[in-house]
Amino acid sequence: MFSTPFVLSFSLLLSLPILFLLAPRFLSPLQQQPQSPVLISPSDEQDDLALFNRASGSAINSINNNNPSRFSHLSTGSNPKRKIAFLFLTNSDLHFSPLWDQFFKGNSHLYNIYVHADPTVNVTRPHGVFEGRFIPAKRTYRASATLISATRRLLATAIIDDPANVFFAVLSQYCVPLHSFRYVYHSLLVSRSFDSSSAETDAELTRLGVRAKYKSFIEILSKSRNLWKRYTARGRFAMMPEVPYDQFRVGSQFFVLTRRHALAVVKDRTLWRKFRSPCYKEDECYPEEHYFPTLLSMTDPNGCTQYTLTRVNWTGTTKGHPYTYGAAEVSPELIHRLRESNHSESYLFARKFSPDCLKPLMDIAKKAIFRD
Ligand SMILES: *[C@@H]1O[C@H](CO)[C@@H](O)[C@H](O)[C@H]1NC(C)=O
Ligand SMILES: *[C@@H]1O[C@H](CO)[C@@H](O)[C@H](O)[C@H]1NC(C)=O
Ligand SMILES: *[C@@H]1O[C@H](CO)[C@@H](O)[C@H](O)[C@H]1NC(C)=O
Repeated sequence: MFSTPFVLSFSLLLSLPILFLLAPRFLSPLQQQPQSPVLISPSDEQDDLALFNRASGSAINSINNNNPSRFSHLSTGSNPKRKIAFLFLTNSDLHFSPLWDQFFKGNSHLYNIYVHADPTVNVTRPHGVFEGRFIPAKRTYRASATLISATRRLLATAIIDDPANVFFAVLSQYCVPLHSFRYVYHSLLVSRSFDSSSAETDAELTRLGVRAKYKSFIEILSKSRNLWKRYTARGRFAMMPEVPYDQFRVGSQFFVLTRRHALAVVKDRTLWRKFRSPCYKEDECYPEEHYFPTLLSMTDPNGCTQYTLTRVNWTGTTKGHPYTYGAAEVSPELIHRLRESNHSESYLFARKFSPDCLKPLMDIAKKAIFRD
């Protein structure tokens, strides 16, 4: 254990020019980029660890979720239904809460909602389905590991809160639904044909009217512009040995995880130790787009579809922000266009929509969005 770091530092000492280049960065990344790196405080880490341990512990006694037929078999007495946990990650008002109210209406036995709102922003707590659903939250910063922490807090809280949560969908205040709740629920929990990436064998096909095996809908890409830059954003060897470059992945932070994978994320300590370290430059990092796909790709690639169900438009965009739809663009045709997917029967959600889209979206909700 001792010899490798020792040899490494010894050879560094020998190569003075390299040491000269690297030492200031190793020693004080904060002073290098005083405006950007976000460090997570030890007390925040402790709080999270306590929560994550509770979630991991509570899972031991809960039902093995990746076997839904067993779930329904065990619970025939009171017959609780499997639910989808909707996890909203926000740092501003939930502009589309009236739309979500309509989406969820009449299905209260089939979902739970959890909201993580940046406590330094005065987020209005809406009535309706979001009422009482805000979880203890900590400050979040764009393109930093704080977004990973916030997502893990949501996952852990939802795991503890209700053993019936079998899918965990991460959304933001800029996301909108593209279908009715019924359609979403059926696609995730019942349909055999929804996911076209999945060649299910007979054994995996539906039992008792539900699919026998769930997959996580998470984008996992091994090729992308800037991947090397992102990998080395903490230093050339910073991710080693836990994450070799050929295992480093990228994908959208808006995903739908199975309970098994949500647990894997909450239980992880090894990769978190790597991904929580700050990067030299904020615009080269985006840990929240790497942590989840890398972790799940390393642990259970075949349990993931490798694509997301949240449509996003990256055409002609810069600075890491996708295209934002404005009120004038909202129409039934746009909704239909955004649903079109090469991977599944349809996208289920889309982003980003500006807050002024609420009215036009409400106007077309009944006849174009929730009509299925
Ligand atoms: C937060 O907003 C509410 C209403 O929007 C307002 O009454 C309250 O004073 C605000 N609080 C802070 C700390 O800005
Ligand atoms: C994506 O955004 C571009 C503008 O950058 C727009 O022209 C195009 O219509 C959008 N695509 C979809 C499917 O909405
Ligand atoms: C589907 O694939 C085609 C061909 O690669 C591509 O042109 C199109 O943009 C894709 N559609 C979506 C919605 O990603």
